[in-house]
Amino acid sequence: MSHERLPTDTPAVVTVGLPYANGNLHIGHLLGYVSGDLYARALRRVGQQTAFVCGSDMHGTPIAVNAAKEGVDPEEFALAYHEQYTERFPQFNVDFDNYGHTHDETNTELTREFVSSWIDQGHIVEQEIEVAWDEQADQPLPDRYVEGTCPYCGERARGDECDEGCQRHLEPGEIENPTSVLTGNPAEYRKREHKFLRLSDFQEYLNGFLDRLEGTEKARNQPREWIEGELEDLCITRDMDWGIDYPGEDGDDLVLYVWVDAPIEYVASTKQYTDRVGSEEYDWEDVWKPGGETRHGTAWDDEWTDESGEIIHVIGSDIIQHHCVFWPAMLRGAGYNEPRAVLATGFVGIDGKSLSTSRNRAIWAEEYLDTGFHPDLFRYYITTGSGLEHDVDFSWDRFAERVNGELVGTFGNFCYRALLFAYRNYEGTPEADVSDGVRERIENAVADFEDAVADYDVRTLGSLAVELAQFGNEYIQRNEPWHLVDEDPEAAEQVIRDCVQLAKACAVLAQPVMPEKAATLWDQLDEDGTVADATLDGVLAAPSATFDEPEELFTQVEDEQIEELNETLRDRVETADEKTASDESADEDATGSTEKADTAEEVDTEETDGDAAAELGVDPLETDRISFEAFQDLDMRVGEITAAEPIEGADELVVLSVDIGVEQRQVVAGLKQLHDVDGLPGTRVILLANMERAELFGHESNGMVLAAGEEADLLTTHEDAPLGSRVR
Ligand code: MSP
Ligand code: ZN
Repeated sequence: MSHERLPTDTPAVVTVGLPYANGNLHIGHLLGYVSGDLYARALRRVGQQTAFVCGSDMHGTPIAVNAAKEGVDPEEFALAYHEQYTERFPQFNVDFDNYGHTHDETNTELTREFVSSWIDQGHIVEQEIEVAWDEQADQPLPDRYVEGTCPYCGERARGDECDEGCQRHLEPGEIENPTSVLTGNPAEYRKREHKFLRLSDFQEYLNGFLDRLEGTEKARNQPREWIEGELEDLCITRDMDWGIDYPGEDGDDLVLYVWVDAPIEYVASTKQYTDRVGSEEYDWEDVWKPGGETRHGTAWDDEWTDESGEIIHVIGSDIIQHHCVFWPAMLRGAGYNEPRAVLATGFVGIDGKSLSTSRNRAIWAEEYLDTGFHPDLFRYYITTGSGLEHDVDFSWDRFAERVNGELVGTFGNFCYRALLFAYRNYEGTPEADVSDGVRERIENAVADFEDAVADYDVRTLGSLAVELAQFGNEYIQRNEPWHLVDEDPEAAEQVIRDCVQLAKACAVLAQPVMPEKAATLWDQLDEDGTVADATLDGVLAAPSATFDEPEELFTQVEDEQIEELNETLRDRVETADEKTASDESADEDATGSTEKADTAEEVDTEETDGDAAAELGVDPLETDRISFEAFQDLDMRVGEITAAEPIEGADELVVLSVDIGVEQRQVVAGLKQLHDVDGLPGTRVILLANMERAELFGHESNGMVLAAGEEADLLTTHEDAPLGSRVR
């Protein structure tokens, strides 16, 4: 069965991969959210009723591990990020119709319904499996609590995903050489009963589904290899406290695997939207449930196939298996509609390497906003550089070049010239009909827009308005209306009438990618209503007869600002790379082999989180053990800083006097930028007293003050052990 071309007269939903509520958003995340927003707006523009929904992913080990690291309750931790995201998306003009989260009531209830439905349909089986266990910490090690080697491709992997290699999902117990991220110990195994969704029930269905699936090529083709041979059952429960409880009678102590309730949030979020606006306006069941009047049945009825919903998922290429294999099976098993299309975006990187949250190799969403550049500039740059599926190498130079060339030089320049000329000479749109050539050019742009929606071609959707403006610029240049005004006034009116029409079409076509800029242009044209509500049919309607003097839509990005941004980024990338290198050499030392060096690039190209220690924002654990004697060689003493003086000319260094009871020590420490130097005296510290002497910037350093982490958090004592006490 092939799908009817979009737009159709059934309501559609566009979703984007839910962000884990466990850290700040970076420009890599934004690629998906902006692309989804752009596509949803474009779909509405061609007349499709569309809801654009998402929500925060609150559960699972990505949250539990990070919350534990901060010593806070996972719910509190995740909610704080959820709130941050709720504010952040609109700042990039990413306007969800509904943004929920996976821990809310709607999703919790719906998830239970899905699972109960699988139980009723006989798709759930129980199996005793060996789960990874940390003997020392005396706890199970689900998913990101464990890391090791991918059994499929041999890359370093997390417990449930081969994030640096083949991107496969890994089932509990599958990872090889598992190590606990809590203690660094090799994981032990314990037998536990778990619940499984029998994916093999859906094998044939999935084959057909992939034939029908639309979207990007990788999303349609990559899953083929994953469904070859007998499909393995999917373990849907975990030994954890944080999550949605397994709803069956006999799984009391189990919570659902995060990838069960996460995609169900797509449905829950659409439902919440209906709850808010009313089913007259938008009915979530028309999208998600088959069977017309029958609605959600208990078993799948094959007659329903033709009624599949207009469900379009935008995701990153790391989560294709979840969306193109597990999710359709989950939907099918609960009697829901299947997705129509999955669009998998490429990955955003810097300098040819992927972003890394833990190594701070990123440009943060908030940081972009701090530059003062308009969000629409980012939206344009990130969605139109290369096709949606391709990786994007972010560069401030390229950003500036494209903004200055395409937005300031072409789009902004054309609209400003056209409107200014029209205003000065005619106080608005001159009276004339659009010429045939220009009408045709606009009609072609509209047709291209419609084709791009039907083809899920986000890049074209983002580029069409600028291309039209390019035509407009050439048109003005060729016709030189400034000469015509005196020589042939009628011809001048014709040219300017055409240009105003082109500017109006530019506003309508640019709206999905640059919603605010398009709205400003719409206002400048003094058009009625909003540009968001304008239809494609309307682009050839006569523009407003009068309008005010226009203003420039864009401002030039200055070289100095780009230089500064480049410098900040360069420093950051260097630090991230040094950190990577030192992590690797630590690994090499530990294993006594150089094998790791071959995979250096892969380690570099880890995505947002990297290995588990890096995930926690800390260095990997040393695997080489030292003896107690070796520890005793370290003479660590309780001390108190009595004086602190910054060293002139040294960016970071401070000379400290530290009282360690038996004597005063002079120590040089790198604390200047991280602490208020004047506030240091009186601070109790731990001093490594038998550190070898050194001389730094002409000052002797006789000992080392201990500190943790990037912020040089000074180690201290909790009670009042006398100065000079030894640490043991
Ligand atoms: N919570 C899961 C998705 C659940 S969907 C039911 C998740 N979260 S995430 O925070 O890691 O990623 C959120 C989205 O951002 C995903 O679609 C992911 O693919 C995408 N990206 C994360 N880093 C990215 C880049 N560097 N570049 C492009 N997309 C990126 O996965
Ligand atoms: Zn792999």
